[in-house]
Amino acid sequence: MKKILVTGGLGYIGSHTVVELQKSGYQVLIIDNLSNSSLDVLEGITNISKIPPTFERLDLRFKADVSDFFKRNSDIEGIIHFAASKAVGESVENPLLYYENNLNTLIYLLQECNTYGIENFIFSSSCTVYGEPDSLPITEDAPVKAATSPYGNTKQISEEILKDTCSVSSLKAIALRYFNPIGAHETLEIGELPAGVPQNLVPFITQTAAGLRKELSVFGNDYPTEDGSCIRDYIHVVDLAKAHVIAMQRLLSKKNETQFEVFNLGTGRGSSVLEVVNSFEKTTGEKLNYKIVARRPGDVISVYADTKKANEVLGWKAEKTMEDALKSAWKWEQKVRGI
Ligand code: NAD
Ligand code: WQD
Repeated sequence: MKKILVTGGLGYIGSHTVVELQKSGYQVLIIDNLSNSSLDVLEGITNISKIPPTFERLDLRFKADVSDFFKRNSDIEGIIHFAASKAVGESVENPLLYYENNLNTLIYLLQECNTYGIENFIFSSSCTVYGEPDSLPITEDAPVKAATSPYGNTKQISEEILKDTCSVSSLKAIALRYFNPIGAHETLEIGELPAGVPQNLVPFITQTAAGLRKELSVFGNDYPTEDGSCIRDYIHVVDLAKAHVIAMQRLLSKKNETQFEVFNLGTGRGSSVLEVVNSFEKTTGEKLNYKIVARRPGDVISVYADTKKANEVLGWKAEKTMEDALKSAWKWEQKVRGI
């Protein structure tokens, strides 16, 4: 059984990916410092797969601890690196936290890859690297625009770090640029559980429907889109998770065409905020309190993926619908809140 290290494996996307890796026969080791997750997730994963993954509570910002971990686990064959801080607003308030957590952790891992000859590395990037696109849907060769937040900047710099490292070593890396992941596992054992007030649309919607929030603020209805609200590409987290397994298999079987590759992971379909709200109401039968408020600073108008490269080169395609994702997100919220 090939051993795969998943950093941030108790987080939202990481936990769903661990389950898919286990289903595909990989032995999974998880590192997480629980800064944005909890040990309950480990139980959720085990309830689904019936295989308890090996877990180590470790903060990847501590280089000596990272070195010690690899000394004990030098037979790891691949790494999927999810661990990072991800709140855009917080990154503006506290840039050094973001540069430290999102860049040092990557550098320390890559140094260990060099030391132990670990050649297969998957990185969580983001559609945020594209900024406001010149044309839609966005292909992977669209220009990377100046980042509008330290968080976005860490994703751009991380891709550069990976590209430069691949060019001077045997490292093979794939950066997966996620669009907007939503939804929960169908078993409702794992899902998205943001700390505090959710910044992202779908958890805010489900918390509003659950009565935790008074109303959803729709940030702007005067954008140059059909209904005036912003457009995004919402992708089911399980579809996203499956792409990581395919990407890892690509590297392990040396099918990659270049040492550093980039893929968009989205559905290819753009949906407006108001479409998401309507779809949520329709699929769940819940009435949602919402009001239109001013635009949120920094929001791009419209962004959705050209998925041709992921479809044809990776052989992956999103299968679930936005309705599937919204339904599962709502059921998950109900379970968590005991509704
Ligand atoms: P998440 O916060 O749920 O998961 C990240 C996990 O990493 C958490 O469990 C956290 O405790 C852990 N972690 C953070 N810093 C760590 C450290 N120093 N050492 C060890 N563990 C650490 O986030 P997510 O939504 O699952 O995102 C995973 C990755 O995908 C991140 O890199 C994020 O930037 C990226 N991404 C997320 C989205 C999104 O909308 N969720 C979109 C694009 C990219
Ligand atoms: C989606 C749409 C909001 C909340 C962010 C990061 C990005 C990536 C994904 C990591 C937008 C609108 C939202 C609310 C609203 N993360 N909205 N009311 O902004 O596309 O991307 O998460 O890489 O880097 O920036 O996602 O879920 O915050 O917003 O009207 O209460 O919903 O304006 O149009 P976003 P989001």
